[in-house]
Amino acid sequence: MAEASDRFKAKLDELRRQALEAVGAAGDAAALEEARVRYLGRKGELTGLLRSLGELAEVERPKAGALANQVKADITAALEAASTRLSGGVRAEAIDVSLPGRRNPLGTMHPITRVMEEVIGTFSRLGFEVAEGPEVELDYYNFEALNMPPDHPARDMQDTFYISDRVVMRTHTSPIQVRVMEKRQPPLRIIGPGKAFRCDSDVSHTPMFHQVEGFMVDEGVSMAHLKSILSQFAEQTFGAAPLRFRPSFFPFTEPSAEVDIQCTVCNGAGCRVCKGTGWLEILGAGLIDPEVFRAVGVDPERWSGFAFGMGIERIAMLKYGIDDIRLFYEDDLRFLKQF
Ligand code: PHE
Repeated sequence: MAEASDRFKAKLDELRRQALEAVGAAGDAAALEEARVRYLGRKGELTGLLRSLGELAEVERPKAGALANQVKADITAALEAASTRLSGGVRAEAIDVSLPGRRNPLGTMHPITRVMEEVIGTFSRLGFEVAEGPEVELDYYNFEALNMPPDHPARDMQDTFYISDRVVMRTHTSPIQVRVMEKRQPPLRIIGPGKAFRCDSDVSHTPMFHQVEGFMVDEGVSMAHLKSILSQFAEQTFGAAPLRFRPSFFPFTEPSAEVDIQCTVCNGAGCRVCKGTGWLEILGAGLIDPEVFRAVGVDPERWSGFAFGMGIERIAMLKYGIDDIRLFYEDDLRFLKQF
């Protein structure tokens, strides 16, 4: 009787060997199905073998049955693996619906856009309206109407990207002043945000950068108005840091000033960021030169105004403690995601 069970076991082993071989050799789905029917089908070899289970002694049957089940499981697993292989590794049933979904990565606002919008918001609340102008600008608006005649040093080829003799990439947002005043008479309170371009590149200069121009024209506008508006802007943007007005020169303002803010890093004590001076320059400003008013047909005897132009990258660097302007334009997500 033990002999019969040995023979049964040997037959099972042989059946498994043949079945796995057939499955391994199957080159397409049809061949695979053929192997399945032949070995595991209702009239297949395993079924046939199981019929002879009755010939075994009763005590041997459970063990032999378990063995047969194991062989069936082995062949089934081989069939499934082969089916996956033949269908290019993907089976519809293999999609795991319990896996968490893929997240769509959400972008964040670029720090420059963010500061730009903040600055615009601050001046809007002070009664300024937004005006824009072209980035590719006529020489006339960028220079000539701003009291910079053709031989003026500010037109130096070093700084200006020329498109042609008469057309430049605007080097500042001040041409927005000219374009607005050409069309509209005072009173005016305008801010002009946008890109500006200069042929320059180092830790504090990029060839493209952002400015916000601002100007106010009315009867009796003075440096006191300029100082008041800029102080409110500085307080909104940086908190309580004091401002300093230094005499300066621009062809389109008279008098002119450069405005510094007390260094937000060292509170005026002097540090690496402010190069030991305790102050950081944030903008240029002044009272609009009568020559500019004359160029746009605004009567300088009746109207006066202030204008300023600030660099947005500079403001963002101070606000967030960034010491290299080029970080804004390297598209490094590790940097950009912090804002
Ligand atoms: N346009 C000047 C610049 O880009 C800044 C400025 C604007 C100065 C308005 C005075 C008045 O440097």
